[in-house]
Amino acid sequence: MTDEMLEKARENAQKGGFTNVEFKKGDIENLPLDDNSVDVVISNCVINLAPDKAKVFKEIYRVLKTGGKLMVSDVVLIKPLPEDLKNDKDLLVGCVSGAILKEDYLNLLKQTGFVNITIHKEVPAFLPDFGLSITFSATK
Ligand SMILES: C[S@@+](CC[C@H](N)C(=O)[O-])C[C@H]1O[C@@H](n2cnc3c(N)ncnc32)[C@H](O)[C@@H]1O
Repeated sequence: MTDEMLEKARENAQKGGFTNVEFKKGDIENLPLDDNSVDVVISNCVINLAPDKAKVFKEIYRVLKTGGKLMVSDVVLIKPLPEDLKNDKDLLVGCVSGAILKEDYLNLLKQTGFVNITIHKEVPAFLPDFGLSITFSATK
């Protein structure tokens, strides 16, 4: 996330007259939010880019209030990537080579403590032999 991205978001909010939004700069592995302070976390295609997905889920769990909801669209793998593809930078920015196996991803969510993990949609993603775009919700 860059300062330019935040500046643009703030400009757009002002243009649209949205006074009830706030933009904070932070890393998904270290959220700049208090414990138990958030009702809903949404994320679209970011978690696959984070090297430490267990830390990401722990952070989301930490900031959510009890009963808070997580709604995510992300890319997972349906089978392991060969070594050469794992190290392909284009596939990393294409949201595939940073992804982990669907089973491991869902297990991490469960191990973190999330319940009611429900997959709403699955579609082949980017490199369809390997990638799967999933949309799911979960509850703290
Ligand atoms: C595929 S884009 C998705 C952007 C947006 N969520 C959307 O739906 O259009 C991935 C975004 O994740 C951000 N990103 C990557 N690693 C991140 C991290 N560790 N913490 C926070 N954001 C990150 C990048 O800056 C980029 O904007």
